[in-house]
Amino acid sequence: MNLDPNNMPKHVAIIMDGNGRWAKQRGMERVFGHREGTNAVRRIVRACGELQIPYLTLYAFSTENWNRPKAEVDALMTLLVQAIHDEVPELNRNRVRLNAIGHLTDLPQQCQEALSQAIADTAGNTGLTLTLSLSYSGRNELTRCMKAIAESVATGEIAPADIDERVIAGYLDTALLPDPDILIRTGGEQRVSNFLLWQIAYAELFFSPVLWPDFNKPHLLDIIAQYQNRERRYGKTSEQIKAERP
Ligand code: FPP
Repeated sequence: MNLDPNNMPKHVAIIMDGNGRWAKQRGMERVFGHREGTNAVRRIVRACGELQIPYLTLYAFSTENWNRPKAEVDALMTLLVQAIHDEVPELNRNRVRLNAIGHLTDLPQQCQEALSQAIADTAGNTGLTLTLSLSYSGRNELTRCMKAIAESVATGEIAPADIDERVIAGYLDTALLPDPDILIRTGGEQRVSNFLLWQIAYAELFFSPVLWPDFNKPHLLDIIAQYQNRERRYGKTSEQIKAERP
């Protein structure tokens, strides 16, 4: 597939959906789908590294996912701790820097520790920044952001008149990340499910019918090729955008 190297996305965000159905289709428990999902994570992290995409953000566990049956939540947390721990050497080999967003203090202690350790162990890497969204939802992030801004106003650190889009973005969990260029949701549903609500204002959305455990590099390449054929107008006219091109 011929991709334009000058029009690659800088930031790809993915809602990894379909693990449960993948397992059920095979007569297995849902957790097998999540386990297979970690292999898809490894493949897509590697693919993004090869494509020199600087940022990949994955929706690994939403604040709403806490409402799933306890056995599934426990299995997912165990899987996460194991994957985060086991993957550090591979992340380092591929120069991947691990990052996490979300209400991380909700996570079990063991998971928080594995995460902090892996983030510290990969902090010096200069390739892909892989952000795991854990106990994350867009509304929860925005609520925490608003509280933090209110506290800064209360202490006199900022004045209400100074609050603009740049200031708000700086208080979000994603303060150090550019906005996603592409949001992919696998598994056939066509909704954003509380993911990066502020940040996807101008993202190109792609809904893939492929279940996450089956998602592979060719699917990603196909989406990037479609992305390169879209015109991102940011509210302007097509004529304006064409006139601005070098
Ligand atoms: C959605 O599928 C997926 C999740 C809630 C969890 C995603 C977790 C992983 C891919 C594994 C661990 C990840 C990392 C980063 C190591 P679903 O269960 O909602 O599937 P369904 O819609 O078919 O029920």
